[in-house]
Amino acid sequence: MDKTLLGGLSPRTFLRDYWQKRPLLIRGAIPGFNGLLPREQLLDLARDEDVESRFIAHDGRNWEMERGPLPASLIRRPKTKPWTVLVQGLNMLLPEADALMRRFSFVPYARLDDVMVSYATDGGGVGPHFDSYDVFLLQGTGRRRWQISEQTDLTLIEDAPLRILKNFVPEHEWVLEPGDMLYLPPKCAHNGIAEGECTTYSIGFRTPSMQELATGFLDYLRDEICMPGMYADPDLALQADPAQLPAAMIDRVEAVLNTIKWSRKDVEAFLGGYLSEPKPHVFFDPLDDPLSPKRFAQQVSKHGVRLDGRTLLLRSGRQFWINGEPVELPAGSTDTLRELASARSVARIADHEGTLDLLYDWYCDGFLHTGAAID
Ligand code: SIN
Ligand code: CO
Repeated sequence: MDKTLLGGLSPRTFLRDYWQKRPLLIRGAIPGFNGLLPREQLLDLARDEDVESRFIAHDGRNWEMERGPLPASLIRRPKTKPWTVLVQGLNMLLPEADALMRRFSFVPYARLDDVMVSYATDGGGVGPHFDSYDVFLLQGTGRRRWQISEQTDLTLIEDAPLRILKNFVPEHEWVLEPGDMLYLPPKCAHNGIAEGECTTYSIGFRTPSMQELATGFLDYLRDEICMPGMYADPDLALQADPAQLPAAMIDRVEAVLNTIKWSRKDVEAFLGGYLSEPKPHVFFDPLDDPLSPKRFAQQVSKHGVRLDGRTLLLRSGRQFWINGEPVELPAGSTDTLRELASARSVARIADHEGTLDLLYDWYCDGFLHTGAAID
């Protein structure tokens, strides 16, 4: 990993002293970084219906927000107020953005979320707010003033179309230049104001709520459990009020529910499937005209394979999950899959039938492509 990315800190020190704890300003985190795509291309993405985007404008007091796909008329309209356009999931659209996100793989993939890019005109921004996840804010083109505060008052303005802090009191501020980066832990209040036109790349992390994890696990369990038998009450006692739920019924059902058990293996299987599940708007289109298996094998023996930017491939030991599904691992393919999961590409694939069959299926599903990765 580049020494500059964390300002000379080792990932271990960063995780110990800053991760989820305190903000860190890193000047020259990626020297020479000047954004990944030109403004026009970024604005075009915001018009695409398969891409998550937002338009935000403000006059200092009132905020306006529109969710994408953004009509060309909105983007082109002459504007009197500072405005910004945000495009989510850039890593799924642009291999260079995926490569940028992978620079942060000192944090497990299970915790990585996406790369968002924002374009703002002078004075533009999304207002003072806090996020519930960690974020690295990397300056692309131009300059942006960041104000931050570790205040505990996180009251939001009511009825605003986006989350704006009611009482933001900046404690520090810096102007970030291209390649500079600011790390913020969850709940750290921040406000980014463009100084002239600028673009900012946010590398965001995934922090599921405990409620989400628990309900997700119960959904998983519902598909796993198998409870035999039917409710029976051969000892039914006569009761005075038929509207009363029988106490014996509650006791009996409670006893049955208490037999539901789960193990660490279930938790592992749930997490693997749940965390590798594509986002709701992501759909893979199977290939219309795939290479033949033979041609595929020839291609990958020369050029290797790389995962599609939208594919999530996670593992726990020898167990793998791809895009929400457990993988049936053919004997002898663990090492290749391990490399693919970790590096997201493999330069050369050994001529191993089981592995090639599996990779071919994934290729036909659109989960991976032949050819080398982008650095
Ligand atoms: C932005 O890029 O304008 C917003 C990023 C953030 O505040 O999280
Ligand atoms: Co934010």
